[in-house]
Amino acid sequence: MKSISVRIAGRPRRYTVRVERGLLDHVGARLRRDAGLLPGTPVALVTDRNVGRLYGARVERSLRRAGGAVRRYTLAPGEPSKDLAVATRLFEAWARDGLGKNAIVVALGGGVVSDVAGFAASAFGRGLSWVAVPTTLLAQADASIGGKTGVNLKAGKNLVGAFHHPRAVYADPEALRTLPARSMRAGLAEVVKMGVVRDPSILVRLTSLARRGLALDPRAVAPLVHACAVSKAWFVSRDERDKGIRRALNFGHTVGHALEASEGYRAFHHGEAVAVGMVAELRLSVLELGLDPIAAVHVEALLKALGLPTSLKRRVKPSFWRAVLRDKKRGRAGVRVVLCPAIGKAKVIALPSLTQLERVVGSLVRGR
Ligand SMILES: NC(=O)c1ccc[n+]([C@@H]2O[C@H](COP(=O)([O-])OP(=O)(O)OC[C@H]3O[C@@H](n4cnc5c(N)ncnc54)[C@H](O)[C@@H]3O)[C@@H](O)[C@H]2O)c1
Ligand SMILES: [Zn+2]
Repeated sequence: MKSISVRIAGRPRRYTVRVERGLLDHVGARLRRDAGLLPGTPVALVTDRNVGRLYGARVERSLRRAGGAVRRYTLAPGEPSKDLAVATRLFEAWARDGLGKNAIVVALGGGVVSDVAGFAASAFGRGLSWVAVPTTLLAQADASIGGKTGVNLKAGKNLVGAFHHPRAVYADPEALRTLPARSMRAGLAEVVKMGVVRDPSILVRLTSLARRGLALDPRAVAPLVHACAVSKAWFVSRDERDKGIRRALNFGHTVGHALEASEGYRAFHHGEAVAVGMVAELRLSVLELGLDPIAAVHVEALLKALGLPTSLKRRVKPSFWRAVLRDKKRGRAGVRVVLCPAIGKAKVIALPSLTQLERVVGSLVRGR
């Protein structure tokens, strides 16, 4: 598939996103071309235990073949690794191992690994080059592109971070073969989101895959990963710092984040909460912006066909509304939410009151 170029205004360098089968075996050779890996260049390969066990040796071999002096740093899998203490452990280990300014950090794993390794790379030695090798659908289609890196605090997710773009992103769809079905589905929710806010052809193609029972097949999904990466690069190139158009990517997330926060992060995978959030925000788009209700129903049917949740078993807790009000996107004028005036378009609006949002969230409860 054609490589994608991410260009940031005011920066001399652009970077490449490649979506190709078999890339895991060619990370080293690619890095020689894309990021100037020279014989003897120190390479810090950061991964988590699961991904390291599955793909660490292959990537390490390819890096060594290309002349990299590789050391591996393995994190515990899962969200708790997005922590300052984990970043500090990386700093200490890198310092102990004498990692210099010429070192390249390779983040091999899902969004957790790229967020924490990218963040550590942004700060160590006042900034090391890094490369993302995403292995989950969420990371390939979304998280690894765009330079947002960071860790969580007790007070909330992603509260400490930096914009630090990778030198390159290498997504190998074959890596998705080992991804649990539930994670694959959760990633598909973000794929649907990209279709809703930017590229309606993604929805058409995904609907056809779902009909043929191929939506969880990495080979069949690969062209959609590529299409999402194209769209993500489009947003990032126009609005690196998330001050305008890039906010469209928060579609489904006002309600989604509040569900995650109020139901506990264990009850929902992020993508599952976003799926329910998109249903609510599509219905709100019908009420507020005149979105064609049939379009909203089609997207809802697609989410259902993908095996994603589209309703709630019971009414939301009071903490849901506290989370909505705390949401980062809240402006002075009220709760700011991304809505969809037509499929393929997005608009940030400030809700004058919570009444309509209460109505659509109420409509999510099964049997209502
Ligand atoms: N920086 C951004 O722009 C951005 C955007 C969206 C999400 N995120 C962040 O991404 C994180 C979620 O990422 P995620 O869903 O990739 O989670 P993750 O990195 O925790 O991976 C999920 C699980 O899958 C395992 N895994 C990864 N690849 C695998 C593979 N190929 N086969 C088998 N198992 C595999 C991991 O070990 C982990 O247990 C969140 O912290 C979120 O905040 C960041
Ligand atoms: Zn998301």
